[in-house]
Amino acid sequence: QPVDTAQTLDRAARIADTLREQGVEQVDLLAVLGSGLGGVADALDGARSIPFDRIEDLPRSTVPGHAGEFRVGRLDGRTVLVQCGRVHLYEGHHPRAVTLAVRAAAQLGASHLFLTNASGCLRTEWAPGTWMRIADQLDLQAGPALLATERSSGTPWCAELGRRIDAFAERNGLAWPSGVYAGLVGPTYETPSEVRALQAFGADAVGMSTVKEAAVGHALGLRVAGLSCLTNLAAGLAPGVLAHEEVVDVGGAAAARLATVLPDLFRALLAA
Ligand code: 6GU
Repeated sequence: QPVDTAQTLDRAARIADTLREQGVEQVDLLAVLGSGLGGVADALDGARSIPFDRIEDLPRSTVPGHAGEFRVGRLDGRTVLVQCGRVHLYEGHHPRAVTLAVRAAAQLGASHLFLTNASGCLRTEWAPGTWMRIADQLDLQAGPALLATERSSGTPWCAELGRRIDAFAERNGLAWPSGVYAGLVGPTYETPSEVRALQAFGADAVGMSTVKEAAVGHALGLRVAGLSCLTNLAAGLAPGVLAHEEVVDVGGAAAARLATVLPDLFRALLAA
C-alpha cells in the first residue's frame, strides 16, 4: 500500500516506465471504463492490450475475475489509453493506490481524463439505465489521495468539457441529464436514511468509485469529464429489494448503447 509521498511517486513512475517499455511513449487521454465499455478500444487504430498483471506496481484487484487490462490505440493521431477495470477503496486499497494509474498517465503527458462508473439513482424521475453526465461530486470517501504538496481548488469536473459532451449527446440523440455524483467507500449499499441524507446534500447519484481519480487528475492538471450509469434507484426510492441480475442487465444494455458512440465522444473531448 503506497501511503507516503515517496512511495506514491515511485510507484507511479514505475507504472509509467512499464507502460513505456510496453510501447506506450505518450498518452493524450486516459479513459477509465466500467464493465461493458472496454470494447470501445477495438475502434482505436492499432489497439493493443496490456494486462494489469504485466504491471507489477499496480494494485491487485481482490474481486475474482476482475483482473482487468489497459488497451491503447490511436484516434485521429492522438493516443488513447483505456483502463478496463479499476480497484476500489472497499477492497481495502488506499486512496493513493486507486489513483496510481491517473498519476502514471499524467507522467506520460495525458491532458484529458474520462471516467465512467455505475451508480444508484437518487432522483425518481430518471429511469434506470440513464447515463448522467457528472457535473460535480461529493467526496464522502475518507483518506487522502492528494499529496501534501498538491493543491486542488474548485470542482475537478471541467465545465467546458461538460458542455462539449452534452452538445455531443444532443447531436447523437442521447441527451443525458447532468448531476452530482456522491462517492462513498462501500461496499454496502446505502440505507434509506442515508439515501435521504444524500438527496438533502444535493447528490443525484451514489456510487463507490471515481471521486479520488477525478481529484488527482484535476490536481495534476488534467481536464476531467465523465458519465455515470444510473443502474437502479437507491434504497427506499422504489418498492422491493434490489435484484442484482436486473442491475447487471440494465448496466449491460446502457453500456452497449454508449459503446457505439464512445470513439466520437473521445474525439469531442480531445477537440477541446
Ligand atoms: Cl444504490 N449505491 C451505491 N453506492 N453504488 C451503487 C448503487 C447504489 N447501485 C449501483 N451502484
